[in-house]
Amino acid sequence: MPGQYRFSPDEALREVRQLNELGISAVLLFGIPRKKDSMAKSAYAPDGVVQQTVRLIREKVPDILIVTDVCLCHYTDHGHCGVVRKKRDGTFTVDNDATLQLLAKTAVSHARAGARVVAPSAMMDGQVKAIRESLDNAGFTETLILSYAAKFASSFYGPFREAVDSAPSFGDRCGYQMAPGQVREALREVEMDIEEGADIVMVKPALAYLDIIHLVREKFNVPVAAFNVSGEYSMVKSAAEKGYLDEKRVALEILTSIKRAGADIMVTYHAKSAASWLREDNKR
Ligand code: PBG
Ligand code: ZN
Repeated sequence: MPGQYRFSPDEALREVRQLNELGISAVLLFGIPRKKDSMAKSAYAPDGVVQQTVRLIREKVPDILIVTDVCLCHYTDHGHCGVVRKKRDGTFTVDNDATLQLLAKTAVSHARAGARVVAPSAMMDGQVKAIRESLDNAGFTETLILSYAAKFASSFYGPFREAVDSAPSFGDRCGYQMAPGQVREALREVEMDIEEGADIVMVKPALAYLDIIHLVREKFNVPVAAFNVSGEYSMVKSAAEKGYLDEKRVALEILTSIKRAGADIMVTYHAKSAASWLREDNKR
């Protein structure tokens, strides 16, 4: 992905220091482990890459809010968001209930390292409830859950999957992510996640789903986050590189539209640039 990098824990710390100086209030961390296996063991290892990085940031930049992505797809060798099981007919399926335990374990290990917010993105049924219970049982009653509640099976995730090497090695994610045309199903997913204990709900992608952001904002009384995903970002970058679009103006217009639709929180790869553009503009 243009302009995006993988960091080691100490490089991530340096980046976060810069973000903090630019006035960015929160970061969302994704881990890329050294080793992937069928049970995603490095997702919940106490010394996993996310856990290490969280501890480092929490110690050195205490006023930035740390949010961690909680999913297994970066940690499984097959690239699915959960544990895969072979069915009687010989085909494979993601085992929802076995996955819940591992997601909960991952979330607790992030909280233990110092994450204030955990963000489950696997779209497994019951993941918010399972994570809430495990966090509470481990004494992390104050850790918030930002749920990727309305997550669509989108082709806009392509650049991210390539960047983190998490494309499923077989099949697709349609069994657990929503078809792009679903409106009422999206609202139902959000409603269920709030009932299960989500403190913040996310709509993803953002730009192609502004209507969903708006509906969620109107219907529910929790903060709404929107994820301006890798494909949405990369389109702007490559069009700007070719000289078709003015990157700054287009990116800020897109972010404005996401905000206007009703997002309280935006996750975007343009965050660092946007923060510096806005800072320059304010100086003038
Ligand atoms: C993993 C996850 C994905 C993204 C965030 N968390 C990819 C996916 O579902 O394949 C996408 C992020 C992006 O495209 O920017 N559950
Ligand atoms: Zn996943």
